[in-house]
Amino acid sequence: MSATPKTANDVAPRGALGWLDEHTRLGPVISASLHVRVPRTANTMYFGGIALFLFVIQATTGTLLSLYFKGTPEAAYKSVQFITSEVNFGWLIRSIHHWGADLMILFVVLHLLRIFFQAAYKYPRQMVWLVGMLLLMVTLGFGFTGYLLPWDQRAYWATVVGTEIAGSVPVIGETLLMLLRGGTDVTGDTMSRFFGIHVLVLPISLAALLGLHMLLVHQLGLASPKRPEPRTPEGKAALANEPVRPFFPNYIVDELVAWYILLAVLVVLASIFPAGLEDPANPLQTPQHVKPEWYFLGVYQLLKLIPIKVIGIMTPIVAVGLLVFWPFLDRSPEVLARRRKLAVGGATLVLASLVALTVFGYVS
Ligand code: HEM
Repeated sequence: MSATPKTANDVAPRGALGWLDEHTRLGPVISASLHVRVPRTANTMYFGGIALFLFVIQATTGTLLSLYFKGTPEAAYKSVQFITSEVNFGWLIRSIHHWGADLMILFVVLHLLRIFFQAAYKYPRQMVWLVGMLLLMVTLGFGFTGYLLPWDQRAYWATVVGTEIAGSVPVIGETLLMLLRGGTDVTGDTMSRFFGIHVLVLPISLAALLGLHMLLVHQLGLASPKRPEPRTPEGKAALANEPVRPFFPNYIVDELVAWYILLAVLVVLASIFPAGLEDPANPLQTPQHVKPEWYFLGVYQLLKLIPIKVIGIMTPIVAVGLLVFWPFLDRSPEVLARRRKLAVGGATLVLASLVALTVFGYVS
């Protein structure tokens, strides 16, 4: 007896997805994106997803701020004052943007540390790591360029110090300084550059890099911190028997809970400690304590402590270079932390020194 032929209604997905597929033919793309291989042993701590959510918050609050912000030195300070005191909920939007920036940098760094200590950068995820390093640099770039925009004393002098550090890089330092400042000093030209980079160049770069990062994670699946990624066809086939956790809805729902908690923390922080504004920038009056933001404070303190300038500046540059290419230098397949004593011990030492330098820079 021949089987009754299936009608379109029998095979097509139903409900909202069915409707969307019928009207867009994107059903297969949507269902594929809801399937990421998550080994049951994987523990991401949701740091990467939280960083992603913070980017969405920054893009949203940044867009709202740009409705009132004016990107010239004369008008910037006044427009920030106006946003804070006149615009409905302007102070809240600005404060969420301010705290969101700090938290985004914090969570990108926590995500990087999680990847490092769990050895999730190893074969076949070296490309994910490289794209991640670019994302880290773009995220820091957001912090650096955004800091100048309110054009108050803190913003102005932190940028003077920050660009001076860039200017002390051997060989290319002077060109770099001119390129960043748009001249020899921090002026309205610097503001135009930083504003353009902050609202156009960096958001586009981050969105493109994030798209690639997520695509690679989707294709490769998440790493298991308990076993190296199999390289042989037999090993890959054995993966079919490994216990996994459904990405949708289980992983996604947990991630949403993490986002919800983060949003609450962000609103509480912004309400209790709203973003401040110092006196307007005055290039003729150097404040007593000029310090960069906390995420550059460790490097700033290192430069102050090392008397030979070129060694001071080359130390973080070499360290970042090492970090970028680390997955290609550490080629052992071992993933367990207790069997990676050199990498784990070395990274802990570097991390502890950086934290100590940051704390020292903060209190001194
Ligand atoms: C804006 C910055 C970033 C965002 C939004 C982001 C987002 C994510 C997300 C959502 C995942 C999925 C798993 C997870 O949540 O951990 C992931 C995985 C990954 N990310 Fe990132 N990431 C960023 C920066 C970085 C950085 C700085 C690195 C390292 C240099 C990195 C390397 C990786 C690697 C290797 C994986 C795969 C991890 C695994 O398989 O367990 N990412 N990223």
